Amino acid sequence: MTTTATNKVEIRRGLMGVYFDRTDSCFIDGTIGKLLYRGYDIHELAEKSTFEEVIYLLLNGKLPTRRELDGFDRQLRADRDIPDDVLDIINKVKDGHPMDVLRTAVSALSAYDPEVKDNSEAAIIRKGLRLTAKAPTIVAAHDRIRKGLKPVKPNANLNHAGNFLYMLFGKEPSEDEMHIMDVDFILHAEHGANASAFAARVAASTQTDLHSAVVAGIATLKGPAHGGAAEEVMKMAEEIGQPEKADGYARNILDHGGRVMGFGHRVYKAEDPRARHMRERSHTLGIAKGQPQWFEILTKLQEVMKPYQARGIFVNVDFFAGSVYYLMGIPEDIFISIFALGRIPGWTLNVAEQYRSNILIRPLTDYNGPMDLEYVPISQRR
Ligand code: SDX
Repeated sequence: MTTTATNKVEIRRGLMGVYFDRTDSCFIDGTIGKLLYRGYDIHELAEKSTFEEVIYLLLNGKLPTRRELDGFDRQLRADRDIPDDVLDIINKVKDGHPMDVLRTAVSALSAYDPEVKDNSEAAIIRKGLRLTAKAPTIVAAHDRIRKGLKPVKPNANLNHAGNFLYMLFGKEPSEDEMHIMDVDFILHAEHGANASAFAARVAASTQTDLHSAVVAGIATLKGPAHGGAAEEVMKMAEEIGQPEKADGYARNILDHGGRVMGFGHRVYKAEDPRARHMRERSHTLGIAKGQPQWFEILTKLQEVMKPYQARGIFVNVDFFAGSVYYLMGIPEDIFISIFALGRIPGWTLNVAEQYRSNILIRPLTDYNGPMDLEYVPISQRR
């Protein structure tokens, strides 16, 4: 922990180990790799729930009855369309990175949301649900447009995950692919005070609107130290090319003080509990697609990194996710956008929590520069 105690203040760089508020949404015990959403274990939710049910749980604080879930799901399906003007904007910025296009389109959507100025909790949640429903349409439409294809209109007969894949590929996904995407969204839905959620909360603490806070979250998630790791891991696996080369490749990174992407976490000092759910799918999907090498390379990398476990460095949620997306035929620069699609409910929840007992988030920096210098006119400066 990098803290420097001067005679005045204690600096906690990166706010490492700092608790800035209380929450009843997400519990993380990094020492044992435990994660709860509203008290429910992530393993139970990944194995037994659906993304729609998890969104309901996160935003309403309880699991829905069948009737509640059906009504909630109907509303989500009804909210998937985006205005033609926003499609035009996507077309204008189509050469940008998918996360930049998503950030731009979410900004634009604020001009079409009748409740944009309403920061009541109920309105925040309604707006967050509309963004959750529309964001897959944005990501899929952009990919189609940049490929010179017409965007595929949302299909209300498919669930959230299935509809995203349908709009992306223009054909109905298999049950297995829908389930994999659904589990992936569950795993990425919420994670406490992670950097992008914190950015959204800082924005909300100034009493800005949800759209602005989500834009802050998207902008923050894009960094490879946070959400961009899945893409970097898959690029690393492609560069390695075959399992035998994994050892030398990783050692070269480590010997030069670099980071092996997909490993390490600010909070988890045991294995990220979300990783195992994507590990299984990376293995089975690789065999099913006749490309077992990617899982073999990743498994080899895990072996090479084993000694680092003693220092609390384990695989995180992103390590296997990239290979799963790759095997599903998803373009690599969209991997990070998939993380954002899952996390919009989590950002919405953090914004609602911040507003519930709002206080401006404004930390301090300890000044160690010169004091009270004399201002010399430019004519006298040498
Ligand atoms: C996510 O916070 C969240 O909840 C985020 C997230 C969420 O759901 O929102 O869980 C999602 O962001 C997952 C993380 C995805 N990022 C990566 O996989 C990128 C690679 N990981 C590292 O960049 C790093 O582990 C971080 C950024 C994730 C965490 O970094 P910290 O907590 O600031 O720790 P650090 O960088 O100071 O590292 C501490 C030590 C260092 O060694 P020393 O300098 O003390 O000798 O651990 C080493 C690091 O060198 N280390 C690694 C490593 N990660 C840390 N060494 C090799 N490879 C790595 N990946």
